Amino acid sequence: MRNSIVLLLISIWSIWCHFTLAAVVGVDYGQQFIKAMVVSPRAPMELIFTPEAKRKEISGLAIKSLGGDKGEIERIYGSALGSMATRFPKNTLLHVKSLLGKTINDEGEISTYLNEHPGIDIVPNKRNSLSFVVGDEQYPVEEVTAMNLQETINRANLLLREKDPSGSDLVDKLALTVPEYFDQYQRRALLDSGSLTTDALDTYLVPDGLSVVINFVLKKRDFKGKSYYVVYDMGGGSTKASLFSIEQPENETEPLRIEFGGYGYDSQLGGSNFTLQVASLIENKFLSKRKDITAEKLHRNPKAVAKIVQAAEKAKLILSANSEASISIESVLEDVDFKTKITKQEFEDSLSDSASEIVKPIKVALDGQFWDEKIDPKQVSGIILTGGSSRVPIVQYKLAEYMGENKILKSVNADEAAVDGATIRGIKLFEAFRTKPLNITERSISDYAVTLNQKGENVVVFPKGTVFPTKRTLELGNAKDLPKDFDIKLWENGLPFQSVKTKTSGADDIYSPEKCPNGVIYNATFSISQNRLFNLDKVEAICLKDGSSSVEKPQNETGKKSNLGSSKRSVKLTISSEGSNIKAMSSDEQLRLREYIRILDQKDAARFELEEAKNLLEALLYDARSYLELEEVVEKGPQSYLGKLSEAVTKHLSWLEDEADETTKLEVIQRSSEVQQLRDKLEAYLQSLSEPLDSKQFQSILNNATKLLEQIDLTQINQQEQVASLKDKFEELGHNVEEQYAKIKLPHHIAAPLSSWNDTVSAFKEVIKLVEYAKSSAFKKMGREQLFEIKSAFDIASAELESIIDYFGKARDYRLHELQAWIQKAEKTKKRKEERLKKKMEDKEKEKESKSSSTVSGNPSTAESESSTVPTTTTTASASASTTSPQNKQGTSSSTATTPLHDEL
Ligand SMILES: *[C@@H]1O[C@H](CO)[C@@H](O)[C@H](O)[C@H]1NC(C)=O
Ligand SMILES: *[C@@H]1O[C@H](CO)[C@@H](O)[C@H](O)[C@H]1NC(C)=O
Ligand SMILES: *[C@@H]1O[C@H](CO)[C@@H](O)[C@H](O)[C@H]1NC(C)=O
Ligand SMILES: *[C@@H]1O[C@H](CO)[C@@H](O)[C@H](O)[C@H]1NC(C)=O
Ligand SMILES: *[C@@H]1O[C@H](CO)[C@@H](O)[C@H](O)[C@H]1NC(C)=O
Ligand SMILES: *[C@@H]1O[C@H](CO)[C@@H](O)[C@H](O)[C@H]1NC(C)=O
Ligand SMILES: *[C@@H]1O[C@H](CO)[C@@H](O)[C@H](O)[C@H]1NC(C)=O
Repeated sequence: MRNSIVLLLISIWSIWCHFTLAAVVGVDYGQQFIKAMVVSPRAPMELIFTPEAKRKEISGLAIKSLGGDKGEIERIYGSALGSMATRFPKNTLLHVKSLLGKTINDEGEISTYLNEHPGIDIVPNKRNSLSFVVGDEQYPVEEVTAMNLQETINRANLLLREKDPSGSDLVDKLALTVPEYFDQYQRRALLDSGSLTTDALDTYLVPDGLSVVINFVLKKRDFKGKSYYVVYDMGGGSTKASLFSIEQPENETEPLRIEFGGYGYDSQLGGSNFTLQVASLIENKFLSKRKDITAEKLHRNPKAVAKIVQAAEKAKLILSANSEASISIESVLEDVDFKTKITKQEFEDSLSDSASEIVKPIKVALDGQFWDEKIDPKQVSGIILTGGSSRVPIVQYKLAEYMGENKILKSVNADEAAVDGATIRGIKLFEAFRTKPLNITERSISDYAVTLNQKGENVVVFPKGTVFPTKRTLELGNAKDLPKDFDIKLWENGLPFQSVKTKTSGADDIYSPEKCPNGVIYNATFSISQNRLFNLDKVEAICLKDGSSSVEKPQNETGKKSNLGSSKRSVKLTISSEGSNIKAMSSDEQLRLREYIRILDQKDAARFELEEAKNLLEALLYDARSYLELEEVVEKGPQSYLGKLSEAVTKHLSWLEDEADETTKLEVIQRSSEVQQLRDKLEAYLQSLSEPLDSKQFQSILNNATKLLEQIDLTQINQQEQVASLKDKFEELGHNVEEQYAKIKLPHHIAAPLSSWNDTVSAFKEVIKLVEYAKSSAFKKMGREQLFEIKSAFDIASAELESIIDYFGKARDYRLHELQAWIQKAEKTKKRKEERLKKKMEDKEKEKESKSSSTVSGNPSTAESESSTVPTTTTTASASASTTSPQNKQGTSSSTATTPLHDEL
C-alpha cells in the first residue's frame, strides 16, 4: 500500500521533472551561419542571440595555442574570426559543414574547401573521416561541429537562466537541420556531433526544406484544398529545391497535411561558389597588374589568398545592390597593396557557367516527383526563397524567368524560417510540448538496397520515395543454400556504405536437422529511421514447419524436444557491422572527445571569469585614480590615507600591465578588495568631517556600547527565566529541563553565525577600552585621524555585534519553542499510553488473543512516531537513545503493543 503510493509519487515526480527540465534547442547549422532557438516552459521560442547581439553566428571557430607545455588552447568564435582567418589562416576552421562525413578521397570537396580556406591542414583519421591539424593536435570534423553546437547550447542555457534565475531548465534536446541530400555518413557525422556535446544531447535531424515549409504553413495559415510549393534554398555551400503538397482536409478538425514530393540539389552551387568566382576575378586583375608575381607564388601564401577571398565576399554583397564594387586590400603580399573595381556585369559574366545550373534543382524536383499522380509545374503556387544567396539578383532573375515572376514569394521572411521550423518539428518529435498538430509525410530521396555475400544480386529494400520511418522484413534464403557465416552489404543510391557480418553458428546449434527436418530460413529486418538512417535491425533464423516456405506456427504442445522449446520458432543471430568507408565512432572515442570539450569549456569559463575580475580591478583602479584627483579629496583627505591609496593604485596598475598574465582570479579579487577598502576608508573619513569627534560624541558612543551589552544580559536573563518556568512541567513528566535544554541542537543557519560569538564580544570589549582611553586621557594628544580610526573601529565592531545579537535572540526563541513542543508531544504520548494500557486491560479481560487493533486504525503517522517513543528535540543519536530508555523502563507493555503495528506499515 505504502509502496504503491511511493511509486505513484515517483512517477508523478519524474513526469514533473521531465517537464520542467525539458528545453529543446533548434539549430539551423549552415555552411556559413548558425542560427538557433530555444524552447522551454518559460521561454517560448526564443531566438538565441550571439554575445555580440547578432541574430546569427559565424559557422566555425579558431583554435589558438596559449603556449605552455600542456598544449592549452583557446577557442574563438564570432566576428573575431574574420581577422583570425587572414592573420592565422591555419588556425581558423570556418564552414566545416561540407567536410562532415567525407573522406580524403572526396577530392572535389576538399579542394573546393581549400580554395576558400587556404592553409588548412586536413588529414584522414583512424575512422577514415577527416580531421584538422592545428598545432600538434588533430580535431575531427565532428568535434569541431560539436564545439560550435556546444557554444550555442551554452548561450541557450544562459538565456534560460536569465529568464528564470531560480529555474533548473537546461537544454536537453537538439533538433538539427540537415540538407535532405546528406548521405548516411554525413547524417551519422551530424548525429555524432550532437552526441559529443557535453550532455550528449538527444538529437533529431530535420530536413531543411521541411523546416522552411513548416514555418511557411504556420505563418500563412489560410490554406484551402490542396496546393503545391517549392522551397528553393541557396545557402553558402549548396542549392536545394524541395517540392511539397499542402492540404487542408475537408474535415477542418483534421490536421493540415504536408507531404514531401520531389527534390533536386547541387552540392557545389551556392554563396561560396559565387565568392570564389569573384575571388578569381580579383586574382586575375592582381596578377595582370603585377606581372612580376606568379599565380603559384600567390597561391603558396595562405594569408594572401585568405585576404582576397575575404575581399571577394565583401564585393559580392556590394554587387547585390550596386553596379560596381571597389576593392582595396592592404599588403596582399609583403608591402604590396592592391586596389581595383569589379562591375556587376563582370561578376554576372563570370557566373555564366553556374547561371544555367541555378534553376536545375527545381527542374529535377518537378521531373522526379515521388507521387503516383505527378503534378504539372504550372500547379505550383509559389517558390519560397530561403538561404542567403537566394538574394543574389541573378538568382532571382533566373528563377523568375523559369517559373514566372508572380510565383516568386519574396515577401516570406526566410532568414529564420529554417531554424523556426526545425525547432517546431523537434518539439513534436521529442513530444516535449504541445504544438499545433501537422500531418507530415516524409519520403526518402534515395534508394536503399542490400546484397547478400560477394556475388549476390542487388535487392532494393526501400526504393526512392518510400515513406519513413518504416521497417521491412525480407527472406534472405534457406540455410542450406547459404554459407555458414554470411555478409550483408547495405547500399545507398548504388554505393555500398556498410557491411554486416552475420554469425549463424548460434542457430546451427539449436536448429539441427533433427530438430528442424524441414529446414531453416533466414529473415532480415531493415528500417529507415526518423533521421533517415538505413539500418539492418536483425537477422533471424526460422525453423520451417513443412517443406514449403511457410513458417512453423506457434506450437501448443510442449516437451517434444527438451532443449528446444517448441514455441521457440526463431533465433536472433549475432551481427556486427562496419562502415565501408568511414567507421563508426566508438563509444570510447565519443567519451574522450566529449570530456575534452567539457574541459575546454570549463577552462574557457574560468578564463572568462578571470578576465572579468581583471576588468573589474582595472575599472576600480582608474576610478580610484580620478577620485584621488578630486579637489575635495586632495584638500581634506589625510596625507597617510591619500598616500596609501595612490600607492596601491600605482602598484596594481603596473602589476596588471606587466605581471598579471599568469595570475588567478583569487589574487585579482584580493587586490580589488585591498583597493576598495582603502577607498572606503578615505570616503568614510571625508564623511566624518561633519562629525565633531569630541568627548561628547565619545561619551555617546560609550552609552550606546553599554546599551548593547545590557541587551545581551537581558536576553540571557530572559531565557533563564523562561527555562526555569518550564521546570515543573518537565518534572511532572519525569524529566529534567536543563538536561533537555542541553540536548537541543541549533539549526545550522543559527548555529553558524553564533559560532563567532565569543570572539565578537571580546573584540567589541577591546574596542570599548580604546574608546574609554581616548575619552579619558588622550583627547588633546590625538589627531583627528586617530580619533576617526577609533570611531570606525567601534562602528564596525558594534555592527558585527548587533547582527549576532539578532541570532542570539533567535537561538533563545528556537530553544524555547523546542522545549514547549517537547512538552506537548510528551503529554500526548503519555495520555495515549495510559489509554492503551487501559484498553489492553479491558481487552485482556474480554478475550486473551486480541490485539489492540482499535488504536491501530487511528493515525498511522502518530503510531509511527510512537514507536520511536518520545518526541526528540534533537537529532543527535545520543539524545534519542537517552530519551528512549526511560520510556522503555516505564512501559514495556506499550512497546510490545506497537511492534506488530509497525510491521503492518
Ligand atoms: C472530422 O474528424 C474528426 C477527428 O478526426 C472526427 O471525430 C469527426 O467525426 C470528423 N467529422 C466529419 C464530419 O467527418
Ligand atoms: C560553381 O558551381 C558550378 C555549378 O555547380 C560548378 O560547375 C563550378 O565548378 C563551381 N565552382 C567552384 C569554384 O566551386
Ligand atoms: C495524414 O495524412 C494521410 C494522407 O497524407 C492520411 O492518410 C492520414 O489519415 C492522415 N493522418 C491523420 C492523423 O490525419
Ligand atoms: C520472413 O520473411 C517473409 C518474407 O518477408 C515473411 O513473409 C515472414 O513472415 C517472415 N517471417 C517472420 C517470422 O518474420
Ligand atoms: C493452447 O491450445 C488451447 C486449446 O486449443 C488454447 O486455449 C490455448 O490458448 C493455447 N495456448 C497457447 C499458449 O497457445
Ligand atoms: C547611539 O545610538 C543611537 C540609536 O541607536 C544612534 O542614533 C546614534 O548615532 C549612536 N551614537 C553613536 C555616537 O554611535
Ligand atoms: C564562549 O565562551 C564560553 C566561556 O568561555 C564557553 O563556555 C563557550 O563554549 C564559548 N562559546 C563558543 C561558541 O565558543
